[in-house]
Amino acid sequence: MEQAKFKWVLRERSQEKPARLAEFSEQQARKVQRFHSSFKEYRPTPLTELSQLARDLGIKNLFVKDEAYRFGLNAFKVLGGSFAIGSYIAQQLGEDIDALPYVRLISDDVRSRLGAKTFITTTDGNHGRGVAWTANRLRQQAVVYMPQGSAAERLENIRAEGARAELTEMNYDDTVRYTSELAQQNGWVIVQDTAWEGYTEIPLWIMQGYMTMALEAYEQLPVKPTHIFLQAGVGSLAGAVQGFFASVYGDSCPLTVIVEPEKADCLYRTAAADDGQLHNVAGKLDTIMAGLACGEPNSIAWEILGSCSDGFVSCPDHTAAQGMRILGNPLAGDMKVVAGESGAATVGLVAEALRDERLKALKQALQLDENSVVLCFNTEGDTDKANYRRIVWDGAYGRE
Ligand SMILES: Cc1ncc(COP(=O)(O)O)c(C=O)c1O
Repeated sequence: MEQAKFKWVLRERSQEKPARLAEFSEQQARKVQRFHSSFKEYRPTPLTELSQLARDLGIKNLFVKDEAYRFGLNAFKVLGGSFAIGSYIAQQLGEDIDALPYVRLISDDVRSRLGAKTFITTTDGNHGRGVAWTANRLRQQAVVYMPQGSAAERLENIRAEGARAELTEMNYDDTVRYTSELAQQNGWVIVQDTAWEGYTEIPLWIMQGYMTMALEAYEQLPVKPTHIFLQAGVGSLAGAVQGFFASVYGDSCPLTVIVEPEKADCLYRTAAADDGQLHNVAGKLDTIMAGLACGEPNSIAWEILGSCSDGFVSCPDHTAAQGMRILGNPLAGDMKVVAGESGAATVGLVAEALRDERLKALKQALQLDENSVVLCFNTEGDTDKANYRRIVWDGAYGRE
């Protein structure tokens, strides 16, 4: 279906559960959380209840899990990079990750058995900062490449963690291929947040790392949501969170909707084609939602999303801008949420579907009404402050 630049497709959940779901169980999530909580920076991020906004929009309630508070890094991504690096070290040493909390990871014993490692990755900003942060904490090296057009502030934040970080002239997916070649040439460890043929172990650990966020939300929610909205680039975050909730709730999992920018809607295209193939988007992937500007789905994530998710929506950029302004300017009684472009996309979609008369069919398709309790994840704060002000102060990317 298509309306006012929004496109969407609804799918039946498969009767048969994907085998991958076993890797996103509550038990696995607790193991991941034990690892994260061994870092002194660990604290659950807040789950913000926006009841006044919910009332205004005509739904029962709206909860936003606010990852701007994660480890002081302004985004959720460090959860994945840190758990993957921890799991890689555990594997190298032949130990269980439960035996390798942070204090042991930085011990002389571990350092002398492991040796010096260099971790390399591609990022639009948040993932690379998480990898650089982890390498820095563990006194190892990180090398980070960023696609063309990445924000200067995000580059500087990665360098501030002691990593070697550079901008390229390529888009995200081509930069990933480039870093993968460099890793092979130099014997470095590639820590990429997407899988491809022959490279699945680290991406799976990264996805599992994101489950800490889902587990916290599950424990913080005062009621079971009816809807979960998840933004997606390659789909690792969405796959992990969907996998967790499909595991814990089983057949009564809330209606889950995957949200992407129209310029990089590879999961929407894959869902719409429904032909058993992954469908890529090539070219510049020109969207303000930099974290979601990925044109090639993570095949592991698709195994989960393709079977368990109920809807896929492709949105114009003004959706995210709208979400940023709404979250940054709360109604009396609600808390303010500072959300970056990728972070605000889902609240933006919910608000657009409920407020824009032209999107009635979308609202109906998403089954949003006065009984809806919605859960969204603000996956980043103002990680590009100049653009945040352009949008929230100056009204850039207004509705059409
Ligand atoms: C802030 C933010 N939100 C969401 C995502 C999407 O994650 P994924 O690429 O796993 O779909 C990213 C990815 O970089 C991000 O930085």
